[in-house]
Amino acid sequence: MIRCSILLRMGLKKEDDSVTWSMVSNRHFLSLRLISFFQLGFINKGSRACHLNRATSDVMEVIKMALLKLKGVTKIYQQGKIEVPALRGIDLIVEEGEFTTIFGPSGSGKTTLLNMIGCLDKPSSGSINFGNKELVNLDKKNLAMIRRHNVGFVFQSYNLIPVLTAFENVEFAIRLINKHNKNELRDKVMKILAAVGLEGLENRKPNELSGGQKQRVAIARALVKEPKLVLADEPSANLDSKTSEEVLEVMVKMNKELGTTFIFSTHDPLVMDYARRLIEIRDGLIAKDQRREQDAVLN
Ligand SMILES: Nc1ncnc2c1ncn2[C@@H]1O[C@H](COP(=O)(O)OP(=O)(O)OP(=O)(O)O)[C@@H](O)[C@H]1O
Ligand SMILES: [Mg+2]
Repeated sequence: MIRCSILLRMGLKKEDDSVTWSMVSNRHFLSLRLISFFQLGFINKGSRACHLNRATSDVMEVIKMALLKLKGVTKIYQQGKIEVPALRGIDLIVEEGEFTTIFGPSGSGKTTLLNMIGCLDKPSSGSINFGNKELVNLDKKNLAMIRRHNVGFVFQSYNLIPVLTAFENVEFAIRLINKHNKNELRDKVMKILAAVGLEGLENRKPNELSGGQKQRVAIARALVKEPKLVLADEPSANLDSKTSEEVLEVMVKMNKELGTTFIFSTHDPLVMDYARRLIEIRDGLIAKDQRREQDAVLN
């Protein structure tokens, strides 16, 4: 049951209107769980009869809570004596459950931005707040912990482990977070590999797979642990349009059912069609940021 201290620490003081668990959808619950994970430790949904001394509107505010807040983020790479400004002051808020695409010319800073958000690199200046944790203050070990438990990353260049099979590459990601027993773990891995169209190829190593098949292993590895945030850097670059659609449908389903937040970087119009928010980045700055009620494929 949700402890009052959690609600109070969330700044919720009303004692009148009550909200019961039956009014709290899975999506609401995910928001509460997210807050509790980052701020307070875990809460348990156990008793649905538990009354939250909170107005429904307060819960709705919780849903809208930002998962990510970037303020003035810059990144300057040093190439010998030359400075390469890749990001030049990014301000961005991403709410939980968004399905967002970042697009823009090659070299505009898309991968750099995803790397900062995904705790793979630190900005030169500015702040990145992820679920109420300030990433720029964390050391490598803590950044790795946040990434491992909360972020699924699909790399532009796959980054698969060459000596492991497709199955083992995906299993590795979920084994690290230690959430499942052996059978559950195997089921989960087999299911996600099948969902991205890799049934029958589980025992192949990366050098025995095509580019598109490797890309699908990378996608399965990012999705298998059901993270809060999936960052996918050009996830359809090596996929034909039919496979891209199948993979995007798997992601849309996760977005709807689990409230997973997705941020893509892409040049692919199909991925853009699926997005409900389109962010254009040019020369390391956000040039446009548009939301739409419905994606263009009417999911
Ligand atoms: N490690 C690095 N060292 C130096 N410069 C870098 C490094 N990584 C990226 N850059 C430079 O930073 C800029 C942004 O690169 P980034 O990879 O983020 O672009 P992108 O938008 O992802 O491009 P693409 O669409 O080609 O993937 C480019 O000018 C690139 O050359
Ligand atoms: Mg890139």
